[in-house]
Amino acid sequence: MYEQVSHSLLNAILDDLKPEIRRQDLRHFYTRLGANFYAIYSLFFRLYGHRPDFKRQMLGLVETMAEGYINRSPELEALDIAREKDHNWFLSQQWVGMALYTNGFARNLRDLADKTEYFQELGVNMIHVMPILKCPIGKSDGGYAVSDFRQIDDRVGDLADLQYLASELRQRQILLVLDIVMNHTSDEHSWAQKAIAGDPVYQDYYYMYESRDIPDLFERSMPEVFPESSPGNFTWNEQTQRWVMTVFHDYQWDLNYSNPEVFIEMLGVVLFWANNGVDIMRLDAVAFLWKEIGTDCQNERNAHLLLQLMKDCCQATAPGVLFIAEAIVAPVEVIKYFGEDAISAKECEIAYNATFMALLWDAVATQNARLLTRGLRSLPNKLDRATWLNYLRCHDDIGFGFDDQDVLAVGYQPRSHRRFLTDFFCGEFEGSPSRGLPFMRNEVTGDARICGSLASLAGLEKAMQEENPVAINIAISRILMLHSLIFSFGGIPLLYNGDALGLLNDYSYQQDPAKVSDNRWVHRPSIDWQHAERRHQSGTVENRLFTALRRMIAIRKSLDAFADFNNRELLDTGNEHLLCFLRSYQQRPSEQVLVVANFHSTPQALPVDVLRRRGLDFTAPLIDVFTGRRPHQIEENILLQSYQFYWLKQV
Ligand code: GLC
Ligand code: GLC
Repeated sequence: MYEQVSHSLLNAILDDLKPEIRRQDLRHFYTRLGANFYAIYSLFFRLYGHRPDFKRQMLGLVETMAEGYINRSPELEALDIAREKDHNWFLSQQWVGMALYTNGFARNLRDLADKTEYFQELGVNMIHVMPILKCPIGKSDGGYAVSDFRQIDDRVGDLADLQYLASELRQRQILLVLDIVMNHTSDEHSWAQKAIAGDPVYQDYYYMYESRDIPDLFERSMPEVFPESSPGNFTWNEQTQRWVMTVFHDYQWDLNYSNPEVFIEMLGVVLFWANNGVDIMRLDAVAFLWKEIGTDCQNERNAHLLLQLMKDCCQATAPGVLFIAEAIVAPVEVIKYFGEDAISAKECEIAYNATFMALLWDAVATQNARLLTRGLRSLPNKLDRATWLNYLRCHDDIGFGFDDQDVLAVGYQPRSHRRFLTDFFCGEFEGSPSRGLPFMRNEVTGDARICGSLASLAGLEKAMQEENPVAINIAISRILMLHSLIFSFGGIPLLYNGDALGLLNDYSYQQDPAKVSDNRWVHRPSIDWQHAERRHQSGTVENRLFTALRRMIAIRKSLDAFADFNNRELLDTGNEHLLCFLRSYQQRPSEQVLVVANFHSTPQALPVDVLRRRGLDFTAPLIDVFTGRRPHQIEENILLQSYQFYWLKQV
């Protein structure tokens, strides 16, 4: 789009650029900037146009982009160009991710780099290395309270180690994902320290108030993230005699994005890590970026504008880099993080599919796929060039944040149903095999969340303790069935450290004063590599899980129908214990895979008739591509054992 005002401003800005920037060869950058400038200018103006220093800030923004471009290596620029050409590259079924804490997987970053064989053995080719930046000892929220956005925590290594890791991964075509904790800093960050020392420039980086007037107005409509361990959204700071906004913990100070300097600083941080070889940025807690009195301060329109601006700026500089939105919010809200009113994603290309995750756990507890199917039906369609991150577990708690309307529609009462789910996963429900822990129970809102490792939630911990081989088999089947769904749903499956080895809850956090009040640590285990060798020993739990997952990953990669192009159709089977969907390959629609999973503890039937009515010509014999065998069929029914899944294809 050609627009005079922004165009003449762009010319003026280019004239004003620092001489050292002007002297560089910026051809590619100028082309991209020209193409995106109208959007960048409009967004920046919408957010900051009322400020007298708008033009100066706009110049600062362009300079940050130009510097980011100048610092981009030829190797990374070549990658940008290749990815621009093949711009749907990340929708392919080839990608399989894993999230891990460096010290839960290895001794440090170098050791992690030297363990890439493990990823290759399993078939994982996208690694989310959780926070590795400098953070306080103790009060760090697992690294999500950053003290310096450009310095690696010396407990895991330094910048050279990270560059080594990035290059080791790149050589093996493994993507590197790092966190950008955009919403807040630690109170030990130099910006916070300067604010504490009384510098008004840095006090404006945060939300600081001398009296309770404004905090009280905010509190009227702001929910609490950690009601038990960190109630309220403001913390009194003795030194400055001010209230500071701290939505998460009292030591995590919320950044003030109504100040353009904060945005420009964080853009600089994004580009810094892009230039150090990070392929994908996981933008943490993005729902919280904009605060507005009278709202819940989540999913605000301006939070979306900030993300669009970040995307547009990053595209001009490092277009090969993707964003993941970590927005654990209602389905109708989460979809907006791909960008509203657009055809193609223009905010974050990838978003956590927390709805699918929570619904899968619901189906585990109820042995019933009613709510799961219903919830998936109400999940709005994604934009083009956008994809889900499908996961079962991560380093955070599980919230049962699905839509109340859906819960009611399938015949449950939202509050008591959530209560049941927490009780079930905490092993407090008669017959429950789970060993989870309740997280931040909120009796006021009825909000229910739980913690626990995949294996412990799925019943493996209890079964192993009771040395019950039948229960062990069931737990293994459950774990595999759940994975079969995140591998086939459409999107990038994201495994979690230790899950391929069946790691159980780790209760050692209870001995650590810095962790004891946050039971998310129960599912942040460390791999014992000697023990992990059991994955090569036939018949062990580790071996059964690891080899099955390895096989599933390899098969996923071979099935074009598993790429993500909105090519999934949910099927109604008439049997509420089954989840069933059809995946088809866009370019050859006849190439279809029927995915079906049984959540019930007894065998269930999938009537072939259902497939026929849908017009599926499954006359030719079917094969389950996972086992390579024919599905068990009795007359007009395909049978599934308890917790069994099939990936069915015509032979
Ligand atoms: C994200 C992280 C979580 C952290 C929070 C605050 O949700 O995943 O671990 O506590 O942000 O940074
Ligand atoms: C994130 C999520 C929330 C979670 C919190 C702490 O902000 O939105 O669900 O409880 O982090 O893990």
